Amino acid sequence: MCGIIGYIGYRPCVPVLIDGLKRLEYRGYDSAGVAYIQEGEINIIKSQGKISSLEEKIYTKDPLHATLGIGHTRWATHGIPVEKNAHPHMDNDGNVALIHNGIIENYQEIKEDLISEGYKFLSDTDTEVLVHLISKGYKETNHPLSAIRYCLERIQGSYAIGVLFLDRPNELWAARESSPLIVGVGVGENFIASDLPAFLPYTKDVIFLEDGEIARLDREGVDVFSKESGGVVEKEVKTIPWDITLAQKGGFKHFMLKEIMEQPRVIQEALSGRIDYKNRSLILPELDSLFLPEKIHIVACGTSFHAGFWGKYLLERLAKVPVEVDIASEFRYRSPIIGEKEMVVVISQSGETADTLAGLRMVKEMGAVVLGICNVVGSSVARESDKVLFTQAGPEISVASTKAMCSQMIVLLLMALYFGDKKGTISKKIKYEIFDNLGSLANVLEAELPSMREMAKSLAIEYSFARSFFYLGRGLNYPLALEGALKLKEISYIHAEGYASGEMKHGPIALIDPSFPSFVLATKDNLFQKVVSNVKEIQARKGPVICLTHAGLEINVDSRWDIPYMGDILTSFFILPAEQLFAYEMAVYLGKDVDQPRNLAKSVTVE
Ligand code: AGP
Repeated sequence: MCGIIGYIGYRPCVPVLIDGLKRLEYRGYDSAGVAYIQEGEINIIKSQGKISSLEEKIYTKDPLHATLGIGHTRWATHGIPVEKNAHPHMDNDGNVALIHNGIIENYQEIKEDLISEGYKFLSDTDTEVLVHLISKGYKETNHPLSAIRYCLERIQGSYAIGVLFLDRPNELWAARESSPLIVGVGVGENFIASDLPAFLPYTKDVIFLEDGEIARLDREGVDVFSKESGGVVEKEVKTIPWDITLAQKGGFKHFMLKEIMEQPRVIQEALSGRIDYKNRSLILPELDSLFLPEKIHIVACGTSFHAGFWGKYLLERLAKVPVEVDIASEFRYRSPIIGEKEMVVVISQSGETADTLAGLRMVKEMGAVVLGICNVVGSSVARESDKVLFTQAGPEISVASTKAMCSQMIVLLLMALYFGDKKGTISKKIKYEIFDNLGSLANVLEAELPSMREMAKSLAIEYSFARSFFYLGRGLNYPLALEGALKLKEISYIHAEGYASGEMKHGPIALIDPSFPSFVLATKDNLFQKVVSNVKEIQARKGPVICLTHAGLEINVDSRWDIPYMGDILTSFFILPAEQLFAYEMAVYLGKDVDQPRNLAKSVTVE
């Protein structure tokens, strides 16, 4: 996600902005910029790459005595990470400057309208429509609050914004909807930021802005208004008992935990702008421009491979399209056959995994069409694919991939629904059920995560004796079993194997004994009874069993873990965090380095 900082006070603002942006670097970014009012104009300095590049540009200019400014680190979602797309953005008259974190879903139509009215756009971002709309509103109303409300009434999507007006040098404006924004309350100075670390050295007194609120900061204080009514909203100033290190992870002990708990928001972001719930239709222009494939080859590594394998089950079930899934390091050396009407789907969170990239380049040379599913705008996979479906999960810092897989699964589900719809292979009943459940999935998961974490913690302690685990599942749960095993292996260093539970009797069950637990996915689907039989086979050999299932399902195991049921497909979005939390709590209990496990790198850019 992008990082936002704004300052109004008595200090030279630029050093405060730079210091704040550096404290937000953990959020991940690819460009940065600042805007400040000095000598009667809005100065904007921005640069691609790290904050150090921005600093080089800034400190070559005159001594900076501006005391009002905004700063931004950009995590690209629309528009590749080059200087023109970095924030802040300014209107054509140089009267308004703005920074933004979030996604404006209807920016294309607004941009077309504004261009037809003569507005000039300098970037490829969705954000730029905001600054032109505010400028237009300000010309009509000559009041910042009315101008900002004018803009926000016309957009759909998520935002946290900071706004400067050239003729209002004693005011800093901000607003939020679904993206985080906090106000720091100082003495003779006030701040806005995406996250606490940005201004924690200056003040621990904060106002938490809520969705639909607009804030006006000056050197004496803060006023908050309602976007809907424009009326004043009374807000409480709270003091944060945090030290700076904790705040770097938004209050979580590890990035991995933060990213697991972010998954409800990630689901919303991955769906954002891609579903019309009213008409139950999909908005996937990236797929509109491609052909309907007669076969799909999915290529990926690690967790992304497990996501692709999960996607295979869905694409074949809902869209009746044959799918082959390959681990990239095998695919690139096995002389695959890619037919004319066949599509290659490359999945990569980082977009830089060497084997995956090599597979992509190989099939491009064969003349195949490549669809990328990627989380990093401007990454090699994103740039070299013919079309890209971005997972919009925000930067994933922890080496163990968690929220990325969740977002990849959402994109794969949308793909299966899209192709199924086009081919008429999915019934309206099933489609409507999935759409309706997708709309509430994030909220149900948000409510469930705290109790899931408690359960994961108690089970991790209870089973910390284990030196090996089986993870077992059938059908759609088989790829999830593989992922659960990988998570446990890579951060707790306990050996774990994922298996199709029907495969146990073909050899692996020889390993079962009281010291060898099995983590079984026995959720409500057409294979449930088969899994119950597999569990009985394990229990006959005195193997302990942890079982993810649903309330009301008949299955007797040592450790039962009931998760919500939202249809057998969306149940996957509860299985995934349950496995992630179990691995996380086990690693913490065993005192492992959760975010940087031994021998591992976040992106494997070498063969
Ligand atoms: C997952 O927890 C691992 N860190 C690793 O398997 C990862 O998924 C794999 O290296 C692929 O990375 P990518 O998605 O960035 O291509």
